[in-house]
Amino acid sequence: MKIAVLEKVKNLETPLYVYDTQKLRRNLDALVSAFQPLGYHVHYAVKANTNKEIMGIIQSYGLGADCVSGNEVQRAIDCGFAAKDVVFAGVGKSDAEINKALDLDIFCFNCESIAELEVIDGLAHKKNKKARIALRLNPNVNAYTHSYITTGLEENKFGINIWELDKVLGVLKRAKNLELKGLHFHIGSQITELTPFKNLCNRVNEIQEWFFNHQIILEHINVGGGLGIDYHQPDLEIPDYQAYFQVFRSFLTLRPNQSLHFELGRSIVGNMGTLMSRVLYIKKGVKTNFAILDAGMTELIRPALYQAYHKIENWSKWAEPNSEKYDVVGPICESSDSFGKAVDLPTTERGDIIAIRSAGAYAEVMASSYNLRKKADVLLV
Ligand code: LLP
Repeated sequence: MKIAVLEKVKNLETPLYVYDTQKLRRNLDALVSAFQPLGYHVHYAVKANTNKEIMGIIQSYGLGADCVSGNEVQRAIDCGFAAKDVVFAGVGKSDAEINKALDLDIFCFNCESIAELEVIDGLAHKKNKKARIALRLNPNVNAYTHSYITTGLEENKFGINIWELDKVLGVLKRAKNLELKGLHFHIGSQITELTPFKNLCNRVNEIQEWFFNHQIILEHINVGGGLGIDYHQPDLEIPDYQAYFQVFRSFLTLRPNQSLHFELGRSIVGNMGTLMSRVLYIKKGVKTNFAILDAGMTELIRPALYQAYHKIENWSKWAEPNSEKYDVVGPICESSDSFGKAVDLPTTERGDIIAIRSAGAYAEVMASSYNLRKKADVLLV
């Protein structure tokens, strides 16, 4: 596979995102065979990768879509996702975005504040419609991941805090154009241990008890996404979906006829993408050499923003052993524009093709035009 991709990339401009659709399909096969027998619903977290072909493939496996902007909702519909399978979260939904989702009659708004409930109610009233909503609650469960991608703690901006629930019920009683359908949670992303998900289940059970005691029936529970991938082993076949869903099966108590929903992004698309780039220059540093690439933080901001690790390989020298250390950096005028320090690589030269692995999620979608950079192309293989 690597050699076939290398042959193609040799004739193409870099930086270039390469998406391996076979790998995507293998991930989806594993995902579907893990959740379907349990009767769960999975919504693809569109924010991870919005490429239309990729989303088309994901849709063909029967997943729904999880969106965080009006444009993502529209992209999901354009890629064939049914509106009845679209959920819409986000702390700052604009009136125009809410109106669009009301017109499309999506499955559910995941509401993040009391103020938002009031606005959706008002907008739905003007259209003489009922908006189906879920309360996004902040469970105050630690995801033990990078602080920038932790969302389920009281200090985070996401969700409604549990101590506001009495007030929320008051608002819902008055809001004639809202229909409370479920509860939504999402504790964070790139979670590599299953314990935080188990803790989430226990917390959801307690919260469900509260609703039960208030005689409120909830049709669905949505536990969000967050299942992490192994960035150190990009060739690892699949994330362990069986073990992941088993946690919810074992620890979450669903009420009769209640459905369980998930919003997975990274684990579906993360390992199918590689950012291909060429070495522009090798420069002698004080302690290590610099390998200066034509790709930078404008194509993959994760290392600069979250100190994230991505495996770096020299595919032009794939048969040669690693013999030197390089600081692998981009061309952008920022010191944080670095993909890795003291990276072990074979002796590397100008023109070599460098693969930055696991760039299928939160890479192309977070690209910027800083330094007036042009958007990198995509190659599907
Ligand atoms: N649901 C909600 C409400 C979310 O906020 C997210 C991700 C997901 C689902 C999907 O999470 P996943 O399964 O992909 O972990 N840019 C960061 C990640 C930000 C995640 C934002 N929310 C990164 O590159 O690591």
